[in-house]
Amino acid sequence: MNPASSPLLQATSLGKRFPGVVALDNVDLTLYEAEVLAVIGENGAGKSTLMKILAGIQMPDQGHLQLAGQETVIRSVDQAIANGICLIHQELNLCENLSVAANIFLGREPGRFGFVDEGLCLEKAQDVLQQVGLNLPPQELVGSLTIGQQQMVEIAKAISTDARIVIMDEPTSSLSQKESESLFEIIFRLKQQGVSIIYISHRLGEVERLADRVTVLRDGKNAGELSRDEISHNAMVERMVGRELSNYYSRTITKSDATVLQVRDLRTSANPHCSLSCEIKRGEIVGIAGLVGAGRTELLTTLFGITPAVDGQIAVAGEDCVIENSETAIRHGIGLVPEDRKLQGIVLEMSIRANTSLPTLKSISPLGFIDATAEQTLAETMQQRLKTKAPHVEQPVKFLSGGNQQKVVIAKWLAMKPKILLMDEPTRGVDVGAKQEIYRLMDELSQTGVAILFVSSDMEEVLGMADRILVMHEGRISGELQKTNFSEESVMHLATGGEIKTETKIA
Ligand SMILES: Nc1ncnc2c1ncn2[C@@H]1O[C@H](COP(=O)(O)OP(=O)(O)OP(=O)(O)O)[C@@H](O)[C@H]1O
Ligand SMILES: [Mg+2]
Repeated sequence: MNPASSPLLQATSLGKRFPGVVALDNVDLTLYEAEVLAVIGENGAGKSTLMKILAGIQMPDQGHLQLAGQETVIRSVDQAIANGICLIHQELNLCENLSVAANIFLGREPGRFGFVDEGLCLEKAQDVLQQVGLNLPPQELVGSLTIGQQQMVEIAKAISTDARIVIMDEPTSSLSQKESESLFEIIFRLKQQGVSIIYISHRLGEVERLADRVTVLRDGKNAGELSRDEISHNAMVERMVGRELSNYYSRTITKSDATVLQVRDLRTSANPHCSLSCEIKRGEIVGIAGLVGAGRTELLTTLFGITPAVDGQIAVAGEDCVIENSETAIRHGIGLVPEDRKLQGIVLEMSIRANTSLPTLKSISPLGFIDATAEQTLAETMQQRLKTKAPHVEQPVKFLSGGNQQKVVIAKWLAMKPKILLMDEPTRGVDVGAKQEIYRLMDELSQTGVAILFVSSDMEEVLGMADRILVMHEGRISGELQKTNFSEESVMHLATGGEIKTETKIA
């Protein structure tokens, strides 16, 4: 990057309003050739909206755009691509029933005379897949891939358009550590080839590593810029939040001897050859660490009845129970904040109010009818507690920013007052301030006796919030760490199949 040179892209005074929301208010953005520009900001700050404007998905209400010094209006995605701008969405945007190759070249299928050349399509797909290090047959249906793999397909798709500006909106939020590393390599390679990258992430460690420059948005406005040598965790947080965050992981351990959840020789349908046993006490927060594919999500979805257990016993508060579906799980006081909020967490078309009351409908409809006032009060209380950014609780969830959608998912389970709360990647896509809020809620819930079992790929989060860590490896619980033995090394050691040295062995 050479800031002395003229910018490749210059957006000036961009404005965008939605009913009740000013998403962007006079925002400027400058991007130079061959640089990685990170755009950071709290949930709802306007990052995705800004990117959608650059990528032709939305039109701004005001402001203008220059590309390589030329005044440019981008009215559609096709126009954006023709101008060399490609966006990799925050929420995945692939057709599940089409193959990987078909998704990569959707609408741009290689061929001649209006006929698609299937062979060429597969060949070209294979080529870009290799570039992103994804070893998959291009014929494979996208629906059968993991979220991480789907994300890599999105990235392959972007690369295949030969874009000179690639926008990545929270690309690593569903990638494993290994996949993230290969993404970073791709970013460096693209940069060397002269491509500019706009990188959005709530993971400030990544930003520190990758960014040449950082632009901060707060409440739809520019809130500062950091040059390469000004970039630090604290400087970023301060500009995003407007204050310093202290006491990030708030955890007060309250020991109890009452076992709330007991799992014995549980076999999940994903890993039926492995038997899982564990116990969680009242008010305890237990973290499950492990690599992607270790069976962590499957343990949670089995406990919640989404994929019923093949074998084994589950007891809640000393009472044996058969959890055959999520309804029985809820009846036994189990809640799940799922990994993929779009599939299992929320109903996008419904309002914040209706989503929040979903698991508690029975208690607020004593006579068979929903008590509308009670429902609204509940939703509003939760909105305030979690600081969910939305004009009112009638707002359909699909209009909320990614991180605020996650807050609605958490709100609905808080409202249910569960005995056991299962959380799968609870802070995915959530900004630093809201993360701290969620940690505080987890702590608060545990003080009231709720047992929390959470899966996280964020090592810091596991070490910071868990009272005890179960590490999974290839479908098994490979070890357990007590707070006094917590360290990143010991978690990684167990997660990669290492033996336990001093810790107690379980399962
Ligand atoms: N189509 C829409 N209709 C109504 N409001 C919208 C729409 N799209 C975005 N918004 C609102 O605009 C604001 C900015 O949203 P945006 O998605 O750009 O935030 P973000 O910075 O990407 O947040 P996150 O980190 O959570 O992804 C939010 O308050 C959001 O609810
Ligand atoms: Mg966003």
